[in-house]
Amino acid sequence: MKRTFWPLLSAALVLAMVLGACAPAATPTPTPRPQPTAVRPTAVPTTPPAAAEPIKVAILGPLTGDVATFGASNRDGAIMAMEEWNAKGGVLGRPIEWVLGDSQCDPKAGADAARKVIDEDKVKYIVGAVCSSESIPISEYANEKGVLQVSGTSTNVNVTVDKDGKTKPYTFRACFIDPFQGQVAATFALQNLKAKTAAVVLDVGNDYIKGLAEEFRKAFEAGGGKVVVWESFVKEDTDFSAILAKVKAANPDVFYIPTYYDKLNLIASQAKQRGITTPLLGGDGWDSPDTDLAAADGGYYTNHYSPEDTRPIVQDFVKRYQARFGSVPDALAALAYDATNLLLQAIQDTGVDDPSKVKDTLAAIRYEAVSGLITFDQYHNPIKSAAILHVKDGKVSFAASVGP
Ligand code: PHE
Repeated sequence: MKRTFWPLLSAALVLAMVLGACAPAATPTPTPRPQPTAVRPTAVPTTPPAAAEPIKVAILGPLTGDVATFGASNRDGAIMAMEEWNAKGGVLGRPIEWVLGDSQCDPKAGADAARKVIDEDKVKYIVGAVCSSESIPISEYANEKGVLQVSGTSTNVNVTVDKDGKTKPYTFRACFIDPFQGQVAATFALQNLKAKTAAVVLDVGNDYIKGLAEEFRKAFEAGGGKVVVWESFVKEDTDFSAILAKVKAANPDVFYIPTYYDKLNLIASQAKQRGITTPLLGGDGWDSPDTDLAAADGGYYTNHYSPEDTRPIVQDFVKRYQARFGSVPDALAALAYDATNLLLQAIQDTGVDDPSKVKDTLAAIRYEAVSGLITFDQYHNPIKSAAILHVKDGKVSFAASVGP
């Protein structure tokens, strides 16, 4: 490099000198150096550069209600990504501005939050939501309005695919889906826990919980296992004694609880009180700083990432997040961070702030994210590994990684 650089530079200098010598009334160009502001001619009005119009992104998730830690982590992961882009000059030279919406892990609140951010705040992009049951109605309105949505962690199949099996053009996610998650849990139960029988409890009104329970049952029975207890409850239930009596009587090899942490805490502690010692197994919904680790002791759950993953991209992320928020990021934070980066990278790569074009860039993206390399299949789902985590002695540790 240097070899060619210097001759070229000196040639340019000679040329400049020659041109300078020929130019009539040439004034010698002073070496530019920083000028103190005081000597600037004050008579010339200076117009500040027009402030670039921000690109607005809504962050949706349950900020209140039974699973509020999900919304907090989702928000913080997304904000961290946006702050990092802003520190580098924004996207397309424009700052990112976020609008928060509380979808409460509820279909109706989700639909209301989507209408508010789209119709009133005029966002063209949404990160979120978290619970599949809120992301599904949000995706329906977003697709109607041409608003691009990237969920970090909504795993139900119907988040990105409509009732007729058609991919929703404006909805993507950064996580694997429940048919895979259920399969991973079933295989782990059959092979690692050597389980032949399982009990399963489910909230029939929740898309994610119901869907994951069904996927687990399908995979467990296909692998030769038998589901001996299959019991439903509703969101309002807090006393699980009737269900737990059946679990105790059946004495299964594994107890699958594919709920969020709020219900896990109740079911697991009531199970312990009744003397049920069956190993517990669950899904990503267990991932919360508020999970009762004593009640879930000995249990395993499938998740999207582990902060113990030694890949530098993970460790760098964990360090920056801890410095910014003072806690170890959970999967919700990591995947909201990934979802936001995917979206912003796609806007940047497209070169225009137009969701109808950005969606095509996103569909073809190849992005090295904290939770792994992301490329999308035809249903806008990434094909990724799952982590299996072990709850033991008040700690959650990485047990295994299972590839697709
Ligand atoms: N996968 C859950 C759902 O679709 C949400 C979730 C993801 C919760 C990750 C916790 C951790 O509803």
